[in-house]
Amino acid sequence: SSRIGILTSGGDAPGMNAAIRAVYRAAHELGIEVVGIRRGFSGLIEGDFFLMDRSHVANIIHLGGTVLGTSRSEEFKTSEGRKKSAENLRNAEIDALLVIGGEGSFRGADLFNDETGIPTIGIPGSIDNDIPGTDFSIGFDTAINTALEAIDKIRDTAISHGRLFFVEVMGRSSDLIAIESGIAGGAEYLVLPGDHDAIMDLCARLTDAFSAGKRYAIVVVAEGERPGCSFEISKKVSEQIDIESRVVVLGHIQRGGSPTARDRVLAAKLGVSAVYAYTKSHAGVMVGELRRSVVLTPFDKVITGRQKPEPNIIRLAHILTK
Ligand code: F6P
Repeated sequence: SSRIGILTSGGDAPGMNAAIRAVYRAAHELGIEVVGIRRGFSGLIEGDFFLMDRSHVANIIHLGGTVLGTSRSEEFKTSEGRKKSAENLRNAEIDALLVIGGEGSFRGADLFNDETGIPTIGIPGSIDNDIPGTDFSIGFDTAINTALEAIDKIRDTAISHGRLFFVEVMGRSSDLIAIESGIAGGAEYLVLPGDHDAIMDLCARLTDAFSAGKRYAIVVVAEGERPGCSFEISKKVSEQIDIESRVVVLGHIQRGGSPTARDRVLAAKLGVSAVYAYTKSHAGVMVGELRRSVVLTPFDKVITGRQKPEPNIIRLAHILTK
């Protein structure tokens, strides 16, 4: 009989548990054993494994986070770390490895697959939605809804006090959380990572809006590579225009919470498809969904490509938010 290992890696994302459950159940149906690996690649290197049974995936479909735990492992970036990991998998008679994570995790998974010959398959989980080879990554839908809920609440108090709010959202290499939560939340303006210094344009837009009678505004800021950048942006704006403002950094709130239906269904599709991909001897690939079809993309394409927001959404953001 065959046996596969599963781990979650990198930043956690709501829906990872639904994916673990889908993998377990699909594998079980096919008579494949599933070994849970704790704390991502760190647990892989340390051999922190346990044989999963039904109880491990009971009542987890609605939980945020990951019941397996996660990490961003520096040691897995070394060939030593990967060699140790392969030994652990072989000793535990594990035939293949499933990795639920983001682009960074797939860099490690790609090297691991090529160096060790242990078939490795990826499932995209990241709130950022910056992974090529899938229209959506597991967790994005929940994260934008969390950000939206926060923006709606901030709008209440912004209106009451007549204030300008800077709401900073996550997404290290990606604008999409900002773009979509900004559109959905009716933001007056979006500050994307490329525009962190485009303060003049922002000030002109706000001046126009306030002189046309607006008494409050919400500016959604994408953190980009600079978490906390909205404090600096708000300071620069207040040097130019005289509107009372506040800053809210949503931070890791966006990483938690119960996954939306969309994220759970995506997790179910991709989890089951990853198990099927393994049974069909695929390796070194990520399972994604593009235009409603499940697609396998080789890791090297995933890690060298760049997931760009579709042009339509950018156009929409320009029309509605600046
Ligand atoms: O990749 C997911 C993400 O939440 C990014 O949006 C964010 O920039 C980063 O992870 C935060 O990383 P950490 O978990 O190390 O705080």
